[in-house]
Amino acid sequence: MLGSVLPFSPELADRVSEYCEKHSEHESAVLEVGTFTGFSALAWYEGTKATQAEIVTLDLPGDMMDKTREFFKEVGVDDRVKSVVGPAVETLKEVESEFDIIFLDADKQNNGTYLEICLEKRLLAGDGVVILDNMFARGLTMGPEFNPHADKSRRPFWEAMGVTIRKLNVSFLEDPRIDVLLLPLFDGVTMIKWKEGYVEGKVNGEGKKAVDGKSKVDGKQDGSGKK
Ligand SMILES: C[S@@+](CC[C@H](N)C(=O)[O-])C[C@H]1O[C@@H](n2cnc3c(N)ncnc32)[C@H](O)[C@@H]1O
Repeated sequence: MLGSVLPFSPELADRVSEYCEKHSEHESAVLEVGTFTGFSALAWYEGTKATQAEIVTLDLPGDMMDKTREFFKEVGVDDRVKSVVGPAVETLKEVESEFDIIFLDADKQNNGTYLEICLEKRLLAGDGVVILDNMFARGLTMGPEFNPHADKSRRPFWEAMGVTIRKLNVSFLEDPRIDVLLLPLFDGVTMIKWKEGYVEGKVNGEGKKAVDGKSKVDGKQDGSGKK
């Protein structure tokens, strides 16, 4: 099974913060799949100071997440960063409302499932964007020969990831609901939006706003039912 790898780079963190700031004319909400040390959640937090957006971040239970949640408290970002623990295919079902930014950065082989849930449940706002990192899998989405320098011990992992991500990218392109843009930045960043007119056609213009002052999570913040 393919796992997850790295937090995104400081450069990408800067870019996403900047992106949030530039798109801050209205309140916004961020959903993240894959918290890890909380680095990207902090980037969303910084970028949404003006709008005080809620940031919902999902990850698996374990020591890492216990520490990350402690850290969120210590640095005082737990006012807006809500951590939800459990397998994302399950926890995504607890998440309600709409998000302007959805960042999929967990187990890459499940990105198709995560995207499907986000589209099907209308978690992605009408003008929102889904961002996916590592879409080049270190160049290996194009083929093993495209990265002769890949670390030998990690090569099998990245080659398998390359094949998986390539298939996912093709399936995104074939999806009639969405527009897809693969940016050749860092390890490859894909941005997905609703195809123009699709949402209006689907919901007869009954869009709902992402932030209403209530949590986007159905009462649970740790996957155990405790608040
Ligand atoms: C690449 S790291 C996230 C990095 C983080 N977004 C950042 O940039 O700082 C991926 C995370 O996804 C989590 N993950 C892997 N499989 C998962 C699953 N099925 N459900 C939820 N989280 C998962 C891992 O535990 C890991 O912490």
